[in-house]
Amino acid sequence: MTTPKKDELTGVATTGHEWDGLTELNNPLPRWWLYVLYATIVFGVIYAFFVPPIPGVEGILPTTRQALSERVAEAREGQATFLTGIENSDAAQIRADGELFAFATAGGAASFAENCAPCHGAGGAGAPGYPSLADDVWLWGGTLGDIEATIIHGVRSDDPDTRYSEMLAFGRDGILTGAQIGDVANYVLSLSGKAPDAQAAAAGKEIFAENCTSCHGENGEGMQELGAPALDDAIWLYGGTLADVETQITNPKHGVMPAWGGRLDETTIKMLTVYVSTLGGYEE
Ligand code: HEC
Ligand code: HEC
Repeated sequence: MTTPKKDELTGVATTGHEWDGLTELNNPLPRWWLYVLYATIVFGVIYAFFVPPIPGVEGILPTTRQALSERVAEAREGQATFLTGIENSDAAQIRADGELFAFATAGGAASFAENCAPCHGAGGAGAPGYPSLADDVWLWGGTLGDIEATIIHGVRSDDPDTRYSEMLAFGRDGILTGAQIGDVANYVLSLSGKAPDAQAAAAGKEIFAENCTSCHGENGEGMQELGAPALDDAIWLYGGTLADVETQITNPKHGVMPAWGGRLDETTIKMLTVYVSTLGGYEE
């Protein structure tokens, strides 16, 4: 510790701190600077009464926070009317009521983006293995009731009332030979006019009648009770090349859709049903 000395050049006392021969002068703070400091302290104390910096404590001036919570409360009240309306109506009644319909579609769209779009794509466009919800082709039925049931119980899910079916593994289980699978695959493609081999397709007709019509229908028109897709519409869940179709017949894939009944409330599921029905087409 060195004792403070006077600086020779200016005659001002030093603080006694010295770094490599440089000493620190002990000049008083400028007056104007001090007055500004005191003024800000006084201002801060007064301002705290007008707009307290403590959450939940109200001041003299209204804050944006108060304005916000008032508006949220108003919006909740408005929403409550619609939510009760939705609770007390079925999907068809909601569709018939302009205001409820608009509210349900908006609510359904928000929930869809969060819960469904990861699999079904934005706007329900679909992806390989995940059916498009934006067309009027339905695996499990396209009435409002069908759509709602699919959402609540899922497909091949862990819900006891899940929609369920299983295509036989004709190749893996040795029910059909490789040649027969090639023939019936050509026949399947011929239903939409795309068979690469007409002769094979003709040979596959019989195999189809014996093995496939029980699920896919007499002419491959599909069967919604079993979730068996139409094979005559050129819309493919698992791809429409000969190889894709042969793969499905040999060792079939089965789509799994989770059940939402336990995860989303009834109102949200109704709003989703209404929203999905607006994407492509639904059946009356
Ligand atoms: C984990 C992926 C996944 C999620 C998430 C998902 N789905 Fe699905 N969904 C599927 C699959 C796969 C199928 C087709 C099942 C099959 O092959 O039969 C399907 C089928 C459907 C169908 C029946 C389509 C038809 O043609 O009959 C509807 C309706 C549907 N989903 C709606 C929804 C809604 C609404 C949500 C959100 C709440 C949702 N899905 C979330 C995978 C999913
Ligand atoms: C027990 C019922 C059942 C039988 C029998 C059956 N299928 Fe299927 N098939 C299904 C189901 C269900 C699906 C859809 C699987 C899914 O949604 O994931 C399907 C899907 C398909 C697909 C894929 C369609 C697409 O859009 O990608 C083809 C192709 C197909 N079946 C061909 C056949 C042929 C050919 C036979 C006879 C050799 C046959 N199926 C027999 C139930 C059946």
